[in-house]
Amino acid sequence: MEFMGLNELREAYLKFFESKEHLRLPSYSLVPKNDKSLLLINAGMAPLKPYFTGLSKPERNRITTCQKCVRTGDIENVGITSRHATFFEMLGNFSFGDYFKNEVIPWAWEFVTEVLKMPKDKLFVTIYLEDDEAYEIWTTKTDVDKSHIFRLGKKDNFWEHGAGPCGPCTEIHFNRGNAVVTTAEEFEAAADEDKIIEFWNLVFTQFDGDGEGNYEKLKSTNIDTGAGLERLAAIMQGKESIFEVDTMNNILTEVTKVAGIKYGDNAKNDISIRIITDHVRSVTFLISDGVMPSNEGRGYVLRRLLRRAARHGKQLGIKEAFLCNICDVVIRDSKEAYPELDEKADYIKKVIRLEEDRFRETIDSGMEILMSYVEEMKQENSDTLAGEKAFKLYDTYGFPIELTQEILEEMNYKIDKDGFTKEMNDQRERARSARETSNYMGTDIKVLDTISQDIKTEFDGYGKTKLTSKVVMIIENDEFVNTIEEGQKGIILAEVTPFYAEMGGQIGDTGEIYNENFKAIVIDTKKNISGKIAHYVEIKEGKLTLDEEIILQVDEKRRDEIRKNHTATHMINKALSLVLGSHVHQAGSLVTAERLRFDFSHFTAMTEEEIFKVEKLVNDEIEKLTEVNTEEMSLAVAKEKGAVGIFDDKYSDVVRVVNVGDFSSELCGGIHIDNIGKIGLVKITSETGIAAGTRRIEAVVGANAIQYMEEKAQLLKEASALLKTMPNEIVQRIQLLLSDVKDKEKEIEKLKSKLASGEEENILASVKEVKGIKVAAYALKGIDANGLRELADKVRDKVGDGLVVLGSVMDEKVSLVAMATKEAVNKGIHCGKIIKEISAIVGGGGGGRPDMAQAGGKDPAKVEKAIGEVLNIVDTLVK
Ligand code: ALA
Repeated sequence: MEFMGLNELREAYLKFFESKEHLRLPSYSLVPKNDKSLLLINAGMAPLKPYFTGLSKPERNRITTCQKCVRTGDIENVGITSRHATFFEMLGNFSFGDYFKNEVIPWAWEFVTEVLKMPKDKLFVTIYLEDDEAYEIWTTKTDVDKSHIFRLGKKDNFWEHGAGPCGPCTEIHFNRGNAVVTTAEEFEAAADEDKIIEFWNLVFTQFDGDGEGNYEKLKSTNIDTGAGLERLAAIMQGKESIFEVDTMNNILTEVTKVAGIKYGDNAKNDISIRIITDHVRSVTFLISDGVMPSNEGRGYVLRRLLRRAARHGKQLGIKEAFLCNICDVVIRDSKEAYPELDEKADYIKKVIRLEEDRFRETIDSGMEILMSYVEEMKQENSDTLAGEKAFKLYDTYGFPIELTQEILEEMNYKIDKDGFTKEMNDQRERARSARETSNYMGTDIKVLDTISQDIKTEFDGYGKTKLTSKVVMIIENDEFVNTIEEGQKGIILAEVTPFYAEMGGQIGDTGEIYNENFKAIVIDTKKNISGKIAHYVEIKEGKLTLDEEIILQVDEKRRDEIRKNHTATHMINKALSLVLGSHVHQAGSLVTAERLRFDFSHFTAMTEEEIFKVEKLVNDEIEKLTEVNTEEMSLAVAKEKGAVGIFDDKYSDVVRVVNVGDFSSELCGGIHIDNIGKIGLVKITSETGIAAGTRRIEAVVGANAIQYMEEKAQLLKEASALLKTMPNEIVQRIQLLLSDVKDKEKEIEKLKSKLASGEEENILASVKEVKGIKVAAYALKGIDANGLRELADKVRDKVGDGLVVLGSVMDEKVSLVAMATKEAVNKGIHCGKIIKEISAIVGGGGGGRPDMAQAGGKDPAKVEKAIGEVLNIVDTLVK
């Protein structure tokens, strides 16, 4: 066997299957599309499910890919074993109702033994128990050693992963430990010891499983091959572990450099090094596919991986944020196969940096919380931290349980692990049931999503808003029906339609569908899971029957407004990257007839000046009355020409590019205005943050922009009328008023203190002596609790050795305060007790310290009475 680099190996595989007439597609995004049953793509076949089930039709019946995958189910094993990873690449060749066992088994053998030149005596094959057909093919169409074929049960040789397409499989294994095996039992034992490792899985996909053991036969027989690229590379490179494979080893070496330690010196450190090496790959790829750290779903997976890696960095003694630099190695070594890494390099680094920094902050606040828990345990004489608290640290402060455990162990405390696991499971259960409600292959799939691939619903609306076509399907009450009539709501599908179905942020068209027998209004247009265009209608008159000819009329005025907003969105996108920098990437958008919304990656709030600049760039361009044109070209040419856009999952050769003169060029399937002059005006109405590193701009165009500005002008007019001035003098007027208010506030303060000093004299005059203590008890009006406290403070100093109790009524509320000098307290005065008694009289409650207490009350009429009681209470308190 010759040494083969990981990148080289990937290329060799894809080329080989291209030579077998497979269409090579780039990896799909890690974020599943239209598949709510999956959080992240976890196998090469996952993005292709609709092709296996026949829900949609692939461009070719033979496809080959190298798919990026993330699996976190075995995260505890990552770093500990030589072959577990959360991120890996899966080589795959797929047949959708095309070739089957007869072809795929010899091809796999050919690639493994002739291209990779693996020694045949090292190879073993397993097949599903009763799959005689596979046995027959292996033994007649390849020269595999018959004694190297074993039959295993469902656990090993039936592939399924949750719900979805599945089937029996046959696997190829490599004997790297010179194991001697003659029986299936011996084979399994050697495999358990990792002496023999599986590296190639051929699944004969024939069933659609519901994930609970129920299978339905698929219409056709298919092939789903999966081979873990890293594992294959380890074999080809003669390495024990995937972490020693060339590209993985480059990351690992970089980690050891940053940490200033050697790999192989210390088993505990080695685990941390491997964890970082693996996690940084997942993190880099997830971010490049648009996942942002968050507390739920995919974002949580990302956050957890990133924090886990950061903590292991800390454990290795790395003091600074470092993952944001290690990712450079991932990007460098993988960018050829995954150009999105290079395109988004700056962005990826920034997102990692932000999250790493944030974690360093939470580590500190988490520590504080943990210490307060320790304090509580001390007081309660307990040595175990409640599972709930450990979970809170984990969940809210991003505090990994292992870290909590380590710290506690040092202080001789432990964690209620079962309690923690229970909390964790509860959360998992919540997440799982949230996903399950819309299981991809589950029962709650709507009838709309089951429409056969043969039904044609073509869009012909770029150039027109009206056309005549034929009804091909009617759905009413989630059932296919032959007719639909006045008063009913439903879905109509037509052979051809000018209605644009909601996509790429642009909302669906509305309008009318009619003929001489019926009339319906279209309230929305959307695509089903396989891309069929569905008109959501309400029948207003008459009755429609399947196959009838119909006229489809889009609401032109609304469509026109949508066009303007859509082109304006492209222009804002471009202007933002000119003003803020090339890190600006679209993160989402909404284009309606009334307004537009554009989400993009940027790390700080935009300044007024930046917003103004963006607006000006766009409006200056509008003034030039530039033409907008759309072209179709290959994806490669579009990229080369510098068109921007979301490139994932657009594998069709031809893409549509929308150009606004030389100003902007963007990949887009939406509908645009033909000349930007028609937009008239763009006005940004808000700029806000929606997540860390993601900003949102909202804007209006044309008549709506004018109306928006009109409204602002009207507001200004109303305000100036109220201020009795002209609009252009309004600022001056407001300044004047503000300074006037300030003067008045000062005046009020002065008057208040004058009033208070007047009251001060009255209070002092009320002083009585009880058992050698001077007591001032007095009721006032119009002073709030704060004022009352200040006043009491002042008077106490003047009374000398004694007690001050004041009551006041303001806004129908009673405030009471009592203050005493030290000497008075020594003699038995207790302000808290006094306040407790007298606040009860005014319908309130309160208490406090011996030298100071405060309370409120609800009964203003009783203040005098309450204050009147003070002397009696003092008399009983002081012996
Ligand atoms: N889908 C199969 C796997 O993941 C090939 O192993």
